[in-house]
Amino acid sequence: MPKIRPITFDPSGSYIDQNGITQEQVSQLASRMEEIRDEVLKTDLKLYVSGDIPADKIPLDAGFLEMPERLLDAYQTDRAASELGQILETASRLQQEVDRVVVLGIGGSYMGARALMETCCQPYFNEFTRAQRGGRPRMYFEGNNVDNDWTQGLLNLLASDKNQPWSIIVISKSGGTLETAVNFRRFLDELKGEVGADRLGDLVVPVTGETGKLASLADTIGCQSRFLVPPGVGGRFSVFSAVGLLPAAMLGIDVVTLLESAAAMNDHFRNAAPGDNVVLDYVAVNYLLEKERGCHTRVLSAWSKSLESVGLWYDQLLAESLGKHELGALPLTVVNTRDLHSRAQQHQEGRRDKVMNNLIVDSWRTDPIAVGTSEWNEDELNEISDRTIPDIMSAAIRGTNLAYKEDFRSTTNIHLPAADETALGQLFQMFMLATVVEGRLLGINPYGQPGVEKYKKNMNQLLREPVTT
Ligand code: PA5
Repeated sequence: MPKIRPITFDPSGSYIDQNGITQEQVSQLASRMEEIRDEVLKTDLKLYVSGDIPADKIPLDAGFLEMPERLLDAYQTDRAASELGQILETASRLQQEVDRVVVLGIGGSYMGARALMETCCQPYFNEFTRAQRGGRPRMYFEGNNVDNDWTQGLLNLLASDKNQPWSIIVISKSGGTLETAVNFRRFLDELKGEVGADRLGDLVVPVTGETGKLASLADTIGCQSRFLVPPGVGGRFSVFSAVGLLPAAMLGIDVVTLLESAAAMNDHFRNAAPGDNVVLDYVAVNYLLEKERGCHTRVLSAWSKSLESVGLWYDQLLAESLGKHELGALPLTVVNTRDLHSRAQQHQEGRRDKVMNNLIVDSWRTDPIAVGTSEWNEDELNEISDRTIPDIMSAAIRGTNLAYKEDFRSTTNIHLPAADETALGQLFQMFMLATVVEGRLLGINPYGQPGVEKYKKNMNQLLREPVTT
């Protein structure tokens, strides 16, 4: 395994006199954090494997925990037959056959894939030519809403150039989610109209449970490639299954490095002591700020546009996992410096109910762009002409943290060496582990989302009522 540059967590911006916490408080929590790590790694995994799960732990979707190692081991043993090998094979087949792919799914069934695309692919990926995209297809996400104009918009786009073949990846663990199902019906119909029913089996790839409505539909269509959302892996914990890996592989994202990096985070979580453990420390600091200082709003400040969807993925993970029993912090993703011009006023002077967790990329993919000199110096930028856009970003990060510190407002820094597969593999796994650890600390089952079922039930019932004119 190549050496993995670790992501790091620096909580020092929360060790402040007023409104913050102390390092001592974090140290006092260390033994409790170790107990919870044991519960997650030993007790929960044992119960999960045995299938004999006590009522207060149901559901126990602990399958995500060792999924990276499981997939990599199987790949090492038998590349072609392994699930990862099949994912790569299908991705490569479709890359050759199509130039566009529509990924249908909602919530945990699409947010990870979108985050992978936006972080690991070049900005404006879909706008480039096929050669500039390295022969990878353009990717569009739908089935994550019931928005007539956007569904029609994508159908129009696909129909506007019949010379660009396309395919569908449809992702739904339950196989019955209405938003995804309705969109699948419409896009399937459009594709059938273009290529004929006989070709659908090649061009439609479902990722779903062993049984269910989508699984049955896939049988009828005769899908030649199909993948499982593994049992015991919840939607928002499924990014390292085919749910995230198949779209990522189609985009040419290095899924092996992604999984190796997630496995490296597992190693770190298992072995590093509290105080040096990014998972345990992130939880301890955020938990204490909420408990002791009322920081119920957890702002994830992404200092790169490429990380916005990672933030939205985390919003969903935290909200659906811990927003139960009238508890759980409110996650809020902001992208800076953009949102300093929309939210900073409130974060600087509003209620003291927030912690700012900065997500900072340490090196940019492209060469630094200098401000440069200009014969038109009305903007007075010649005096900083040798500064670069990364210099300005660094100054903004330091300046913002300083402003919060001066007003005794807590910050932490999560550093990513780069916005790439290595960092994202670690970060996704870190956040999933942290969410489960925090759930256990709060006495909340992080798995399942019983509250979401209520709207679904009502919506389905209303749709089946007779239409009144
Ligand atoms: O995290 C979850 O489990 C949810 O967000 C689901 O992913 C989401 O509701 C979609 O469900 P499904 O994959 O069954 O269509």
